[in-house]
Amino acid sequence: MNYLIGIDVGTSSLKTLLLDESGSVVESVSESYPFHNPKPLWSEQDPAHWWKATCLSIKRVMEAGNVSPEAIAGVGLTGQMHGLVLLDREDRVLRPCILWNDQRTAKQCAEITRKVGADRVLQLTGNPVLPGFTAPKIAWVQENEPEIFSRAARFLLPKDYVRFRLSGEHFSDVSDASGTSLLNVGKRTWSEEMCQAIGLKGSFLPELTESPVASATVSAEAARATGLLEGTPIAAGGGDQAAQAVGCGIIGEGIVSATLGTSGVVFAHSDAFRVEPNGRLHAFCHAVPHKWHLMGVMLSAAGSFEWYGNTLGAWEEMEAKSSGSNVFAWLDRQAEKAPAGSEGLLFLPYLSGERTPHPDPQARGVFFGMTLRHRKPHLTRAVLEGITYGMNDSLQLMRNLGLEISEVRASGGGAKSPFWLQMQADIYRSRIVTTNVTEGAAFGAAVLAGVASGLFGDLATAVAKVVKKTGEIDPGPHQAVYADFYPEYRALYPALKDRFASLGQVVEKYF
Ligand code: XUL
Repeated sequence: MNYLIGIDVGTSSLKTLLLDESGSVVESVSESYPFHNPKPLWSEQDPAHWWKATCLSIKRVMEAGNVSPEAIAGVGLTGQMHGLVLLDREDRVLRPCILWNDQRTAKQCAEITRKVGADRVLQLTGNPVLPGFTAPKIAWVQENEPEIFSRAARFLLPKDYVRFRLSGEHFSDVSDASGTSLLNVGKRTWSEEMCQAIGLKGSFLPELTESPVASATVSAEAARATGLLEGTPIAAGGGDQAAQAVGCGIIGEGIVSATLGTSGVVFAHSDAFRVEPNGRLHAFCHAVPHKWHLMGVMLSAAGSFEWYGNTLGAWEEMEAKSSGSNVFAWLDRQAEKAPAGSEGLLFLPYLSGERTPHPDPQARGVFFGMTLRHRKPHLTRAVLEGITYGMNDSLQLMRNLGLEISEVRASGGGAKSPFWLQMQADIYRSRIVTTNVTEGAAFGAAVLAGVASGLFGDLATAVAKVVKKTGEIDPGPHQAVYADFYPEYRALYPALKDRFASLGQVVEKYF
């Protein structure tokens, strides 16, 4: 039997997964590490943690699965996107990695956009220059840490730093590189124009390949550190969302995934390079060779429901705990007691600000339309409806770009509740499919390694092997009610946008 290893360099832990050649997960382990917020808006991590966790977890996963190094056909890498690892001429790390959720670069984003032109940026990179992306972080170091930048010889993304430690090679893949603001996403090559805007030379950038390609092999030194065999192929891999999508079988147009975790992600495969005219959806290269993907990210999806359960739903929580049942399953049953549309009560789920479709850190959560008739079940149902309308915003933007959506694959916490699944089918006006896949990006990275190493054939064969449908839910009679309330929900953000901004100023004055 042959095996594959998938490694996901996450923000709070590194997950390593062992897949066998039949497509079954044998073992998965995770090693936690800290990240730091040295100043408000800053988020940093020491790349040394990733390498230590990689060595430990590869050994642990092979030991737990009782697998010898000769049986490992390939390693696939994925991880948090957008992070900046700066290396000097001797490949030494110059400063902590600036992470994807760091927000310090608003000024640099504006400057790059002014230099290149907002339309041109969108045309080249598929996205506006966002504070989390890599290029403005490079510009920030140039401006604020000139001594460090004078010693910088190249940059890598987080998973590519792990590849460097595994192989000594400097490679990235086009899906992860899409989140740098430096890639010509349509052409799948570095953009000279974007690089020039921050004065970068070609030698500063890693080489690029497509995702399911063996871009390097394990070095003798890394073999000693990890227990892998020297020469084991390492797949280029992909950014965490693209790799996760591969693992869920999102490799053809028409199939979209809707993941309701703390945040909510709507991910669509696209055969062509499509750009949302206002840059409200991310347009990135997919981990499927020569294809693209569109993505909407809601910052507080199931996270809003959790907040509700822990605060306004607190009485129910106590009741559910005392009867020993799951709080959220209990709230779910309570929501069913209110009618679809919650008798006109609407909820805006912008509890952590928002990313798609309103990139606005000042946006806030709102209950709107309360009357004396509303009871707890209405509030509970309105929260679920508001989150689902928010996910639908991304689907609508995708449909507006000409994507025909034939099937939405639900995953995350929201896929566990039959009630919420039906609500999703009704609001998305699409068939919902559930699958056997419960693992995240590390699973997708192992699948990409299976293709790169030749063990799994091509990507379509690999996906057919590992992804099985477990359920289908079609839109039901409530879709008409939701279709009537959805425009009311849509109209609320534009009506409140300025109020969110001014409220933010008053709050800043006092809190
Ligand atoms: C993708 C994104 C996150 C990070 C961290 O655009 O911001 O998925 O990669 O997981």
